[in-house]
Amino acid sequence: METVLITGASRGIGLELTRQFLHLGYNVISTYRNSASSELAALSSEGSLTLFNLEVTVSDSIAEFAHNISNVSIDILINNAGVIGPIEQALETIESADWLRTLAVNTIAPLLVSRSLIGNLKKSSNPRIITVSSQMGALNRESTGMYAYRSSKAALNKVMQVLAIELKEQGIVVCPVHPGWVKTDMGGPDAEISVSESAAGIVDLVRNLTMKQSGKFLTWQGEEHPW
Ligand SMILES: NC(=O)c1ccc[n+]([C@@H]2O[C@H](COP(=O)([O-])OP(=O)(O)OC[C@H]3O[C@@H](n4cnc5c(N)ncnc54)[C@H](OP(=O)(O)O)[C@@H]3O)[C@@H](O)[C@H]2O)c1
Repeated sequence: METVLITGASRGIGLELTRQFLHLGYNVISTYRNSASSELAALSSEGSLTLFNLEVTVSDSIAEFAHNISNVSIDILINNAGVIGPIEQALETIESADWLRTLAVNTIAPLLVSRSLIGNLKKSSNPRIITVSSQMGALNRESTGMYAYRSSKAALNKVMQVLAIELKEQGIVVCPVHPGWVKTDMGGPDAEISVSESAAGIVDLVRNLTMKQSGKFLTWQGEEHPW
C-alpha cells in the first residue's frame, strides 16, 4: 500500500485527511507542531500511522524530520499546515512582522519541506505533491482585506507552479489545491462544507492525480481553478 505524508495534522483538514487515508489502508505519516492532539494520537489504533514533530518554519526541524524518515518511500506528500495570519490584516492595520510570519508558514515552508523530501518521493513509482492553497489567493477574484493570507496563498501558487516545472523530469506531480471553504477552526462554523467532505474530495483527487494535471491549480472537487 502507498505511503502518504500529511503536515499540520493535529486538527482541521490535516486530521481528517489522516483519518480518511488510514481507513483506506494507506501507510500514513502525519506531523504535528508542539504535541499531537488527542484526536490525532487516537487514530494510531485505526491503522498504520506514524507521528512526527515538525515545525514547518524551522529549518532544523525540517532537517531532523527528513533525516528520521530518509529511508521511507513517499508516494503522496500533502503540505497542509497553514495559518490564516494576524487578526489585523486590513490596509490600515497590517504590520510587516505578522505578514512575514504568514509568508513563512504558508508560502516558504511548503517548498522547503517538499525539497527536503524529494529523495523519498523519488523512491515511489507514482510520486505526487499537493499543497493546500486557497481561492483567497486567486488573482481572478476581486476582494478586499486579508493582505497577509491572500498574498501568501497567491505566492504559494506561483511557487508550486515553478516546482511542478522543475520536478516534471523526475516524474513528480505537483499541484496547489483549494480545499473549499471548510468548517474548521480556520474556516469557522459558517463555512460551506464539512471537513469530511473537503478531505474526501482531496483524497479522491490525489489518488487519481496524473502528470497531465501537474502545475495546475485544482479544487477539492478535481476541477481546474483560475489562477
Ligand atoms: N478552512 C478553510 O476554509 C480553508 C480554506 C482554504 C484553505 N485552507 C487551508 O487549508 C489548510 C488547513 O487549514 P485548516 O482549516 O485545517 O486550519 P486549522 O484547523 O487552523 O489547522 C491548521 C493546522 O496547521 C498547523 N500549523 C500551523 N502552523 C504550523 C507550523 N508553523 N508548523 C507546523 N504546523 C503548523 C496547525 O498546527 P497547531 O494545531 O499546532 O496550530 C494545524 O494542525 C491550511 O493551509 C489553510 O490555509 C483552509
